[in-house]
Order: sequence, then C-alpha cells, then structure tokens
Amino acid sequence: MRRRLAAELAAARARTRSLTHGVFAGDDPDFTHQHSPLMSPFHWDLAHIANMEDYWLVRRGAPDTDLVTGVREDIDHLYDAFTNPRAGRPALPLLDPAEARVYGDRVREKALEHLEAGSFDERRTLADGFVFSMIVQHEQQHVETMLATHQLRAGAPVLHADPPPPSVVPGLAGTEVFHPGAQFLLGTSTETAALDNEKPAHPVTVADFWLDAAPVTNGEYARFVDAGGYRDRSFWSEAGWDHITGEGWTAPMTWEQVSQEDGTRRWHRTSFGVREAIDEVADQPVLHVCFHEAAAYAAWAGKRLPTEVEWEFAARHDHATGTTRRYPWGDEDPTPERANLDQRHLQPAPVGAYPAGASPLGVHQLIGDVWEWCDSGFEGYPGFEPFPYKEYSEVFFGGDFRMLRGSSFGVGTPNARATFRNWDLPIRRQIFSGFRCARDV
Ligand SMILES: [Fe+2]
Repeated sequence: MRRRLAAELAAARARTRSLTHGVFAGDDPDFTHQHSPLMSPFHWDLAHIANMEDYWLVRRGAPDTDLVTGVREDIDHLYDAFTNPRAGRPALPLLDPAEARVYGDRVREKALEHLEAGSFDERRTLADGFVFSMIVQHEQQHVETMLATHQLRAGAPVLHADPPPPSVVPGLAGTEVFHPGAQFLLGTSTETAALDNEKPAHPVTVADFWLDAAPVTNGEYARFVDAGGYRDRSFWSEAGWDHITGEGWTAPMTWEQVSQEDGTRRWHRTSFGVREAIDEVADQPVLHVCFHEAAAYAAWAGKRLPTEVEWEFAARHDHATGTTRRYPWGDEDPTPERANLDQRHLQPAPVGAYPAGASPLGVHQLIGDVWEWCDSGFEGYPGFEPFPYKEYSEVFFGGDFRMLRGSSFGVGTPNARATFRNWDLPIRRQIFSGFRCARDV
C-alpha cells in the first residue's frame, strides 16, 4: 500500500507540474495572472496544494505523534480556500512562483518520510493510509481545476496531448437502455479511498427507467441550438431562463459561430486554444454546459436528467447477480482501455470509443470523458458522519447545488470512483461538464 500511495503522490505531482512550472517560466505573467474571477492564479493553486499536504501529512501524518511543526504554518491563512474566495486571491501577499515550488518540494520530502516510517493502524485518519489518499485526491482535484483554468486562458496553446481513440460502436448517440428497477446498495462502506459523502453503503429502491447509452453529443446538442432552443422559454426553468438571458448565452461556453468562405456560418469550439469545427467533433460528448442548459436540452428532447441514484445504479448494479460493482465494467481499477481519464487526451472521446468500459446493460462512458449533471441536490446519506473535517462536505449540504457524476477526461484515476460525488452551482460551466438524459417508463 505504501508503494501504491507513493506512486499516486508522484503521479499527481507530475500532473501538477505539467500544468504549472512545466509550461510557464517562473516570471511568465500567465503563471500569476488570474485568467477568470472563477479561478485562482496558478501559483495560488500550487502553494495551496502544498499547504494542504503540509497540514495533513507533515503536521498530522507523522509516526507515533499527533502533531509536529509544519514547514510553513505562517502562511496557512493565505491558502485557506474557505476564508479566501477565488476572486480575492490575486490580491493576497502570496508566495511567488519560485517560493511556491520550493515549498511544495520541501513538504513532499517530509510527507514521504512520514509515509515510509508511519503506521496506518492506530489513528482513524491514518487507517488504510486514508489521509495520504485524501491528499492524493485533493491534488488531483486541483489539477483538474487548473486544467479548467487553462481552458479559460486566452492565447496560443501550451498544452498538447494525443487525440482520443475513435468510436468503434457506430450509431450509439441518442440510443437508450432500459433499466429494470431493483433494490440496490448505494454508496460505499468498503472503498478505503472514499470520502465522507460517499459513505455509508445503504439500500435504495430504484423504479424502472430508460437511460441514454452515451452522453449527449455535440452533434445532438447543435440540433437543439439550431432549433432555437436558447430562444424558447418553454424548455427552461425560471432560474435557467433568467440566467441565460442575463448572461446572453446562446450556446455552450466555448462555442462561437464562424463565417465561412461560402457566406454560411458554422459552429466552432475552442479547446485549449485550438479552434475546431463542431461538425468535426460531432460525436464527442458536449462539454462546458451548465445544469440549466442540460435540463433545457432534456426538456426539448422529451426526456429528463437522471437522478444521482439512477446514475449510480446504472454504473454499479449488476442485474444478473443482484450485486453492486465498483465500476461499470466490474471491480478492477480503470485502465486506458476502459475510460478517458488523467488528461491523457485533452478532450472527451467520441461516444463508443470505450466498449471495454460499458456497463453490463450496455451503457457507455459513465466513467471519464465528461462529468454528468444529475437532477439531485447535495445531501448526506443516511448515517453520514463528517470526516475528517466538516468543510469537506457537510457545510455544502442543502445548498443550491446540483450533483455531477462519473468524472471527466481531466480527473485523475485515484478520484474516478463510481461512488464519487461532485457538486456545483447549476449556473457553472467552466468545469468539464456534460450530461446524458433519462426517461420514465
Ligand atoms: Fe483545495
């Protein structure tokens, strides 16, 4: 387990570097600039990752003692995400890029010493190496956030990756899979890496429903846009309509109409600085839509969004045996053949590109590619216990959030659990969000 955790820490740090000082020289203004008020400057994320690791692994992860002195306790207040909303972070007296890099390296050195020397058995935070796994996941979550910052950054492309694999299942878009209702074990009590809001496992009863076999594609979404979907009030909730009309939204976040030589206009998107015709990525899941846009599309299509419970039921219930799987394909960890994760490709793969990752009933790409909006709010499961701190989940329960499931191409493998619960405001679309539709029987 120590070796696995050390490898996961190293993999997370390699991704962090690939988005920060790996692409920007120390004095590059892109490194310290705030690219959007929704995001932090890269050097804030870099030092925040280190500060969280300092707090949990250096100070609280030492063998045989509850608390040791951290590497930099004097800067905790600058990197506390709760007391420093994103918009105000650039004005703080932050570590400069070189200092942030050194801080991260020193913290990591001490954290690895503790990992090597520590015991995983006595304290609850350390049992099964939980707090080390939590810090791996925390860094991976910030990597995904930094990837979203890169998406919002203007200018020439600085990130590069291989294109995703092609579809090998033609005709998948728009098809539906019938899910016979059953009793099912939602959440987990056995995943050692699970965060508090995924626990405990508990039985729920799910009614029959239909679920799209794949996420809604750019091609399908373009038909909704071109049919006047953003101008027809009847498809939108009141909050959704107020938001899109207030913001002047007429298409997903990165889309624009580009005039062609023949006088026509075609939809294009910009993906990490590269402009592409939507026609050429028509079979990829639509990306960068908010909950309201997803719900409006579903209404236009005569469908609805799945609930969070339906989503996890589709991803984990094995109808043949009546048991709950870890992943749609079974209990083994994700591999590059099963899911588009780890920013291996800088975009979602076309639907039908991962037949090895499909569920037993034939639902594709539940893990990886795009986060999928679900029509559920954020609540604790029955028997929920905050752990290891209330601010991880509990303070968000009951707020104006909608759930996102399944992880995106920017999610790290250690975070890509079928039980993982993500949440955001229904107006947010700078995240790597898409959706699939469901339908009552
Ligand atoms: Fe954080």
